Amino acid sequence: MNTVSPPASWRSVLPHLDEPLPPDQSPESPAGGSDGVAVNLPFALVRQSTQNREFWDIPAEVFDAYRAFRPTPLWRARRFEDAVGARVPIYVKYEGGNISGSHKLNTALAQAHYYAKAGVKELVTGTGAGQWGTALAAACAMFGLRCRVFMVGTSLQKKPYRGTLMRALGATVHASPSDLTDVAARVGGGVNSLALAIGEAVEYAGRTEGAAFCIGSGETYSILHQSVIGLEAIDQLAELEATVDSVVGCVGAGSNFGGIALPFFADAATTGTECPRLVAAESSTTPKLTRGVYAYDKTDATGVSPMEAMYTIGSSYPIPDSHSAGLRFHGAAKVISAMRHRDQVTAQAVGQVEALQAGQTFTRSEMVLPAPESGHALAVAARLAADGGSSRGVVACVSGHGYLDLSAYQQLLDGELTTEPPAEQALVTAMDRLQPVPGLAIAGSGHAF
Ligand SMILES: Cc1ncc(COP(=O)(O)O)c(C=O)c1O
Repeated sequence: MNTVSPPASWRSVLPHLDEPLPPDQSPESPAGGSDGVAVNLPFALVRQSTQNREFWDIPAEVFDAYRAFRPTPLWRARRFEDAVGARVPIYVKYEGGNISGSHKLNTALAQAHYYAKAGVKELVTGTGAGQWGTALAAACAMFGLRCRVFMVGTSLQKKPYRGTLMRALGATVHASPSDLTDVAARVGGGVNSLALAIGEAVEYAGRTEGAAFCIGSGETYSILHQSVIGLEAIDQLAELEATVDSVVGCVGAGSNFGGIALPFFADAATTGTECPRLVAAESSTTPKLTRGVYAYDKTDATGVSPMEAMYTIGSSYPIPDSHSAGLRFHGAAKVISAMRHRDQVTAQAVGQVEALQAGQTFTRSEMVLPAPESGHALAVAARLAADGGSSRGVVACVSGHGYLDLSAYQQLLDGELTTEPPAEQALVTAMDRLQPVPGLAIAGSGHAF
C-alpha cells in the first residue's frame, strides 16, 4: 500500500532543457514569432508555458479537488509480467480511477480553476475519444462554469455513453463536424478528426460572449499539470525500493507521457543521476515520433492557431479511424518533440491489435480494463520488459480505463480488428510543404524500431 501524498507543486522540465523551445509562428506571417500562447489564455497559464521556473504551487482549490482521487495507485503488475514473459519488473501507475476515467482531469481541474478566476463563464473544447471532454465537463461542474464539447463524430457514434456522461455532468455535446461552424462547412462532410473538432471549438468560443476555448493536451501548461503523475510515481517507487530504467506512456499529443516521464528527467538532472529511458508509445496509424518530421505545423484545422515546432506527420494527413481515438493526433507537443529531437525521448509505434491484446492480457491478469490508448503503453512496457533491453524495471502509465471502450475489445475478441499503418507516400504528401524549424533542415525521426 502506498502512503505517499500528492505533490504540493507541479514540476516543469523547461529549466532543464539545453535550449528554449522554438517560438510559435503566426500562420499569416511565418517570420513573426509570437509568444506561443493564445491571447485569451489566463495569465497563470501563459506564465506556466513560458517561464523557466521549475516548481509551481498547486492552488489550494485544485489541490483539494486532487485529494479526492490522488495519489493514484502504483503497483507491481506481477501477473501481467508473467503473462508477457517479462524478465524485469513492470510497475503501473493507474490514472483511470476518477469520474473522467483518465489522467485528463489533472489539467482540466487546473484549467477550469484559472479560467473561472479570470472571469470566463463557459469553456468550449474539442475532444477525440471523449475522455478530455468528460474531464472538462467534470471540472466545469466543480468550478461553476458552463461547458460545451465538440466530439469527433465517429467516436461519439462508437462511444455514445461518453456523450451521455458529459451531458450528465452538465455539458452540451455536439458531434463534429457540426452545422454550427464555418470551419466544418469549409472542410466539408465526411471529415472526422480531432483537428477539426478543435477547430470548431476555437471558432465557436471566439464568437461567444464570456466563452473561452481550452485544450486538454499538447500545451506546455497541460504537461506541467500532468507532472503530478510522475512526481507521485517517483515517490511511490522509492517507497517500494524499486528502480526502473524505462518509463513509458502512450502519446496522443503527449500529456500523460510527459506527465509520467518528464519528472524523471528533471529529477535525474537535479540529482546528477542517470535518467531512465523515456519511451513514448504511439499509434502506428499516427506515427509522428517514429515516422514524422520535426517541422512547423498547425495544431488544428482552422488555420488561425499558431504554428508550432513539432514532430508531425502533417496536419493534412487524413488519419484513418481507430479505436484509440485519443491517439489520433498528427503532432506531438512541442516539449516532447524538442526532447525527441535531442534523443532525450525515444518512441515506439504500436498497432491497435497489439495494443488491445496487451489491454486484454492486462485485464485478465491485473483485473483492470485499460483504455485502448493505454494498451499502447502496456504493449511497449511488455516489449521492453520481455526482451527490449530494460535491465532493471519498467514503469508504465495506464492513462485511463476502458469500460466505455468495450466495442473495441468486442471487435478484438470477434477477430474483426486490423491495423493499417499509413503508406509512405501518403505521409510524404502530407509532410511535403511544412516549414522547417529555423537553423534545422527538416529532419525525419531517423529511428526505426
Ligand atoms: C485514456 C487516454 N490516454 C491517452 C490519451 C492521449 O492523450 P495525451 O497524449 O494527451 O495523454 C488520451 C486522449 O484522449 C486518452 O483519453
